[in-house]
Order: sequence, then structure tokens, then C-alpha cells
Amino acid sequence: MFPLAFVPAHELMADAERGNYAVGAFNVNNMEILQAIVAAAKEERSPVILQASQGAIKYAGINYITALARVAASEVDVPVALHLDHGPSFEQAMECIRHGFSSVMYDGSHLPLEENIAITRQVVEAAHAVGVSVEGEIGRLVGIEDNIQVSELEGALTDPDEAKKFVEETGIDMVAVAIGSRHGFYKGEPKLDFDRLEAIRERVNVPIVLHGGSGIPESHIRRAIELGVRKINIDTELRDVFVRTARGIMDEKPDEIDPRKILGPAREQMKEKVKEKMRLFGSSGRA
Ligand code: G3H
Ligand code: ZN
Repeated sequence: MFPLAFVPAHELMADAERGNYAVGAFNVNNMEILQAIVAAAKEERSPVILQASQGAIKYAGINYITALARVAASEVDVPVALHLDHGPSFEQAMECIRHGFSSVMYDGSHLPLEENIAITRQVVEAAHAVGVSVEGEIGRLVGIEDNIQVSELEGALTDPDEAKKFVEETGIDMVAVAIGSRHGFYKGEPKLDFDRLEAIRERVNVPIVLHGGSGIPESHIRRAIELGVRKINIDTELRDVFVRTARGIMDEKPDEIDPRKILGPAREQMKEKVKEKMRLFGSSGRA
């Protein structure tokens, strides 16, 4: 089905469900980052999801991203998925599928539920026709409806009954939920709402995706996996280790002008970070 080297993410999710672990989905922007992630997957014998956001596609160009990812995947003998992260439109999802992505996310979480359902379902119909997996996201709008006031915090969290309706009516393969995690670094200790996660899990029969995986304590990650999280997105922590390493070298050796001597060690440190995550998620040794 995928002569282009990528495995549909739902196949990785099915294995993760059986084995009770999560697969890391790591954001990619350039060659060194791709190399770091697939090298980690190879060394850990772990399945892996490479994901490109709209920003990454804009930065590198979709042809570069897919070509680099294809080469990266062909270098390793572990299953690799290529996934669109936070896809902003039906059109973007289709463009990625045309380029060989094996999985796409349509993120309509900012839309009213019915609209989110309608567009996500369109993506599912088209993607499934060619064997591509789909991730949808369900959240809740902040504001006042009748006499129910939804606070900032509550507004960001997924309503379990809405999640059930969303999954049933869209036919998605994976559902991204808001349970208190956030994108970027946390101010203070992150608090994941495990009761909410449990309630969602009881109502939906597809793997759950945790966005904003950077900076979440290990014990929380383990608990989330126990409760059905099967895909964990990590971006910030990888950027952090990559840039800090590069910056450290530039500070130490201000006369260094060989990019390979700056980006090479950054790639190496990033690989170690990805390996650490794969062990934590339980995906090491599963491929
Ligand atoms: O979709 C991307 C992820 O949710 C990344 O979140 O930058 O907090 O690790 P993070
Ligand atoms: Zn995200």
C-alpha cells in the first residue's frame, strides 16, 4: 500500500494498543532533526512517527520534507510514519497525502463541534480511501452558553461526551484531547486531568493522542499511557536540546564557522533525548 516507505500511523497505534505503550511523534524541520529521530528509533528498535507541522512545511517546503523523511525512513528497518501535525485545512491534508504522508491530522478544535465534525469527516473519507490514517482534535470553546459559563481552564479541556460523539461521527483513527497539557514549556508543574482522561477512554474506542508532551513529569506520562494514550507529541524539548547544544558550542568556540561542528553535536544530543522518550513511552524494543 505504501511503496513510499511510510507506515500508516493507525497500524503503529494498533500494536501500541496491544502492547500497552505509546509511540512518540516528533516534530521535524530539517535534515539533522530527521536523522536524529530515525537514528534513535533504529538504536532503540522503536516504531516512530515523524510529524511535520504547517510551519515546518512552510520552512522547508513540502518536497524537501517528504524527500528527507523518505530517505530517513529507508535508512532504518523499523516502522516509520509520516504525519501532518495540526493540519489547518482539508486542502493541506490532501496536499500531504498526495506527497506520500501516511497519516494526517486535521485540527478543527477551534471550530464549533458540528463544523469540526463535518470537516474532519471529509478528511477521513478522502484519507481512508487511500489507506492514510487521520487524527482529529476535540476541545471546548471558552465563553458563556445560556447560563453556563466556561472558564479559560475548563474551556481548553475536552468534554468526554463530545469526544465520543466526535469520534463516532467522524470515523477518525486517533483522537487528540485536551486534558491539561499545553504546547511549549510549562510554568510550574503541569496538572493532567486523569479523571477526564479516564472518562474519555471509557467512551471512545480509538487511541488517544497527548499533545504538548514536553515537560510532563515521567510519572504523569506513565499514568497517561496506562489510561490509553498511544501517541505522544514532542517538539519543544527537542528544539531545546538542539539549540542549547549548538549555542553552547558557539559560545565556547566563537571562531567556529563549520556548521557541521555545530549541528553535528546538536543532532547527537537530540538523538539521546529521543531515545530517552522512547524508553519512557515503552516503545523501545517493539520493532
Ligand atoms: O503537536 C505538537 C506537540 O503537541 C508538541 O508539543 O512542543 O509541547 O512538545 P510540545
Ligand atoms: Zn500539538
